[in-house]
Amino acid sequence: VSDFFTQKSLEGKKIIVTAGPTKEALDPIRFFSNHSSGKMGYAIAEAARRAGAEVTLVTGAALADLSGVTTVRVTTAREMYDEVVNRYPEADAVIKAAAVADYRPEHVSMRKIKKSDGAMTVTMVRNPDILKELGVRKKDQVLIGFAAETDHLDENARKKLETKHLDLLVANHASDSFGEDTNKVTFFFADGKEQTFEKMPKRQVAVRICDALADLFEMSEP
Ligand code: CTP
Ligand code: CA
Repeated sequence: VSDFFTQKSLEGKKIIVTAGPTKEALDPIRFFSNHSSGKMGYAIAEAARRAGAEVTLVTGAALADLSGVTTVRVTTAREMYDEVVNRYPEADAVIKAAAVADYRPEHVSMRKIKKSDGAMTVTMVRNPDILKELGVRKKDQVLIGFAAETDHLDENARKKLETKHLDLLVANHASDSFGEDTNKVTFFFADGKEQTFEKMPKRQVAVRICDALADLFEMSEP
C-alpha cells in the first residue's frame, strides 16, 4: 500500500493548513511551547497540493519548505491568528493541525530573568482560540480541527466538533502522535459518523484527511 493509496481531487480549492507548535516568550531566552513536531500538518499540506489544491501552510515548525506550497512562518498564537483569519474569507477550507498555545505569559521581560531563591510564579493569560473564531465567521468554508487527548477522547472530540462548528475533528491519543512519524486517529464528523483507523504513517493519515475533505466539498455542493 503506497502513502498515496487513494487521493481524490482538490483541484481549484484554496486550503489553509496550520502546523507545528506556537511559542510564547517569557524573556529573550525562554518560551512556553509544546511537543508538536509539525509533521502532521506538513504531510497534509503536501497531500493537498498533490491533490491539486492551492495550499497555504501557516507554520510554527521550521521544517523544510514544501515546493508548490506557500509557507508563512509564525511564532506566537496571535501571529497565527492574524495570518489565518486574514486569509480566511478567500479560503475554501482550513485544516488546523497546529498545536496552538492556549496561554502566554502576561508580561514578557525585555531582559533575561535572573533566578532567585524560592519559587517563581508566572501569570499566564489566554490566547485567542483561532479555530473557534473561524467557526463563528464561517460562511461556506469546510473546517477541520485536531485534538490530541490523554483521556475521554470521544467526549472531548464531540465537544470540540460542536463548540467550534467543525465539519470534521481528527482525534488521537497524545501518546500516539507526538514526535512520531505515524499516527492512530479517529475521524468525528458533524453528522455523527465516526471512523477509526489503524496506526499508519502520517503521510497516509494526511491522504485520508484530504479524501475526507474532498467528500465534504462534494456534500456541500448545491
Ligand atoms: N486551536 C486553535 N486556537 C487555539 C487553541 C486550539 O485554533 N488557541 C485549534 C487547534 O489547532 C486544534 C483544535 O483547536 O485544531 C483543538 O485544539 P485543542 O488544544 O485540542 O483544544 P482546545 O479547544 O484548546 O481545548 P483544550 O486544550 O482545553 O483541550
Ligand atoms: Ca488547547
